[in-house]
Amino acid sequence: MTTATQVTPLLKLTDRINRIEPSATLAVVAEADKLRQQGIDVVDFGAGEPHLATPQHIKDAAIAAIQGNFTKYTPVGGTAELRDAIVHRHAVDFDSDYRREETVASVGGKHALFNAVQVLVDHGDEVILPVPYWVSFKDIVRYAGGNCVLLETDEAQGFRVTAEMIERLVTPRTRLIILNSPANPSGAVMSPEDMTEVVRLAHERGIWVISDECYVYLNYTPKRFSVGSLREYREHMVIVGSLSKTYAMTGWRLGYALGPAPVLSAMQKLQSQSTSNPTSIVQKAAVTALKGPQQCVADMRAEYINLRDHVVNGLRSIPGVKCTLPEGAFYAYPNVSAFFGRRGIGSASDLAGKLLREAHVATVPGEGFGTSDHIRVSYATSVAELDRGLERMRKFLGSL
Ligand SMILES: Cc1ncc(COP(=O)(O)O)c(C=O)c1O
Repeated sequence: MTTATQVTPLLKLTDRINRIEPSATLAVVAEADKLRQQGIDVVDFGAGEPHLATPQHIKDAAIAAIQGNFTKYTPVGGTAELRDAIVHRHAVDFDSDYRREETVASVGGKHALFNAVQVLVDHGDEVILPVPYWVSFKDIVRYAGGNCVLLETDEAQGFRVTAEMIERLVTPRTRLIILNSPANPSGAVMSPEDMTEVVRLAHERGIWVISDECYVYLNYTPKRFSVGSLREYREHMVIVGSLSKTYAMTGWRLGYALGPAPVLSAMQKLQSQSTSNPTSIVQKAAVTALKGPQQCVADMRAEYINLRDHVVNGLRSIPGVKCTLPEGAFYAYPNVSAFFGRRGIGSASDLAGKLLREAHVATVPGEGFGTSDHIRVSYATSVAELDRGLERMRKFLGSL
């Protein structure tokens, strides 16, 4: 019999949900929001999204889709029109030759990545992950039951990842290598030669590669590159892409994967039992984004290069701050270890915490990305906002 004094049994959640942590990036956004709600003016270098608006012609396509009642379920992996547009865009820009059955549209690149890992990684499988890594890679692998094998890189070498470095970590249990170029958080870009060697090694060993190319259009080196052009190794590759950063569409949630048909069909099966199709209206907007004029992409890239130069010069001019030159994405990853040991600061988390609470500048501490000497500064904001934040950082760090 239940009595009023009986204690509620402890909530028992699954082992797999207890294996993962909430995203460190979203935690910073939440803390900055709290300060803002208290009326505090926070300069936000934490958010990982473009400050720019979605181009007008893409917004118009979504409005037309609503007015035209394109508001019903679609095929789980996206309409044929959208899948053809994904394949076409990739073929034109990166010389790939995927077919409609070799692509799937998902609710953001993160969703495509999650589904790909769930169908490729089993309990006890090893997944090689270069450090620093994007926060979600680790948790998505763990959720699938895989073990992350971290590949340490050298900041002095621009966080370079090579096939030889990966080869040293390969064991009979290695199932997957996750590449991310341009990288979040470091902005590092792998050379086409290094990427080719890694993909070749994986192919020869029968190891999968997931290439997260969500920032592939924000590559500031002279040659942007996708592993999709390496057609001879396609058997072991899944490419993850996204419209979020390319077309400033983070909130719309449209990503995709390209890869061998059996893997893509398994990903669709999983998607059919969770989200079903990405929003029908967003699919129409995505077709317009992918098939329409691409000048907006070039314009945004040019703007990010200016912002990158501005923020890196600013950061490097602060005594004690060291910063590699990011060659892509929209993050700088300064090394702030020179300040450890001052005013009780022992780590990047301590420093980012004080920077937020005392100087009101939001950044993301490196620990979430696997390094403890850095903070991530997102420069997807205006020059004026960059200057305001840099000034606050200069004052705060100078006072330590
Ligand atoms: C490296 C990387 N991959 C994937 C994503 C996912 O982007 P989305 O789900 O918005 O397409 C992000 C977003 O920040 C990212 O930084």
